[in-house]
Amino acid sequence: MSADTSHDTGHDTGHLPINAATDALLPDPGLAEHQWRPTDVDARAEKRAERQVATLFGLSAVATVLFVVFYITLKTGTDGHTFIGLGASNVALGTTLGLALLLIGLGVIQWARKLMGDHEISEQRHPAASSEEDRTATLAALNAGLEESGIGRRPLVRNSLLGSVALLAAPAVVMLRDLGPLPNQVVGEYPGAGLHHTIWAKGTRVVRDVVGTPIKASDIEIGDLFNAEPDGLFDLEGAELQIAKSKAAIVMLRMDPDDIISDVTRNWSVQGIVAYSKICTHVGCPISLNERTTHHLLCPCHQSTFDLADSGRVVFGPAGRHLPQLPLGVDDEGYLIALSDFLEPVGPSFWERNTKSPSEVAKELKS
Ligand code: FES
Repeated sequence: MSADTSHDTGHDTGHLPINAATDALLPDPGLAEHQWRPTDVDARAEKRAERQVATLFGLSAVATVLFVVFYITLKTGTDGHTFIGLGASNVALGTTLGLALLLIGLGVIQWARKLMGDHEISEQRHPAASSEEDRTATLAALNAGLEESGIGRRPLVRNSLLGSVALLAAPAVVMLRDLGPLPNQVVGEYPGAGLHHTIWAKGTRVVRDVVGTPIKASDIEIGDLFNAEPDGLFDLEGAELQIAKSKAAIVMLRMDPDDIISDVTRNWSVQGIVAYSKICTHVGCPISLNERTTHHLLCPCHQSTFDLADSGRVVFGPAGRHLPQLPLGVDDEGYLIALSDFLEPVGPSFWERNTKSPSEVAKELKS
């Protein structure tokens, strides 16, 4: 193949033009004589190659199916199956998914090497911008390539490739499914299961975080801000404790009752003591920074700011909705209790969650 290196230098040097000199030094060697492949000249070799390619795609499909079977049947974790000291699940899933991808790659390589068109072409360099004529020619070449690949004529290869590639969606589906329960799905029989509820319930005493002691309104001074939990939380263990605590944690503040702006907040408070979810409605960071004079609560992650005197209204930042407030009351012994669970999901928004305003939520409590 020779390249057209001609260009206008703008000077008459009195020498040969550059392309003429180059051509004189480096004559175009042309193409070596074409060697036909066995599959180009032997119909049986061609059929054999076709079966080889289809076999590779078929084995890929088997590996994908095995991936799904191992995913469902092999135990993971510390009590799971092991294989030469390694987690058998990891070994099996890695091996089968790797094989599925490798075999498709090998099949495509064999297809190209043995069955696709084997014409050698030479092409002169041309200006980068494509002309209409070139585009037409490109399309024609593309169509010719498709024709030569035999994708239309070789249904066995085509269908086995399509089948093995389509099956590769299965690992993605089963792994995505493992990301967590759907919002309306309640997994497990434990208190506060699911995204819509916590373990707070009517009459549950409010206790201090860590120590678990119940709280009287008289124990709290104006300006105090502290973390609290539902009574009984610390009776739970392991994953149940973690899940319950991650949703039920609250932050409490006592302010001057005259500072309270919203009626809902006033109705759900006790002598100026309010309780809100501690989980930011943006992406779920625990909130803790209080601006004492404004009763604004700041999330340290992205600076969302909520007004605790006004139903947890967002006054700044990326949070898309207010901080859920826990309705508070007092029991016969004077301890603070919840009047109900939160009346809306706590934490970050998710699809299917309700988008009620605090006053709508309050109406539900009354009814
Ligand atoms: S998590 Fe609170 S502002 Fe982003």
